[in-house]
Amino acid sequence: MSERTLAIIKPDAVKKNAVGDIINRYEQAGLKPVAMKLMQMSKPVAEGFYAVHKARPFFDSLCTFMSSGPAVVIVLQGDNAIKKNRELMGATDPAKADANTIRKAHGANIEFNAVHGSDSPETAAFETAYFFPGMEIFS
Ligand code: CMP
Repeated sequence: MSERTLAIIKPDAVKKNAVGDIINRYEQAGLKPVAMKLMQMSKPVAEGFYAVHKARPFFDSLCTFMSSGPAVVIVLQGDNAIKKNRELMGATDPAKADANTIRKAHGANIEFNAVHGSDSPETAAFETAYFFPGMEIFS
């Protein structure tokens, strides 16, 4: 079933010039960008995006990191896009990620882990709408 997921190439991966490699991995796996922008989040925007993690000890540091430089925010569309993107990313902690995953290749540690991907249809819907109005998403 074709579905959409929200992916973010985080500021650490943008700084390391990994944008091209990461987008190539999405496309090779059959995940097509249907909306995309380079943007630097303000801290409140990062806090709103990660609101589900508000009570976590790493919340403030995470939001500082996510607003530290430009990130690429992408809506990916394809069969089983949510699960497929999570497989491409690998485990949250790059040290635990499988070989050939994005986080293994480009992540430094559990916080600076190169990419984000929605983890469920509900979060995909929230996260996609957080960054893109419907008229900016191609089909
Ligand atoms: P992400 O998939 O974007 O979802 C939440 C983010 O919080 C996660 O990737 C990491 O960047 C960060 N994160 C998760 N767990 C930890 C942790 N234990 N310490 C620091 N950062 C974390």
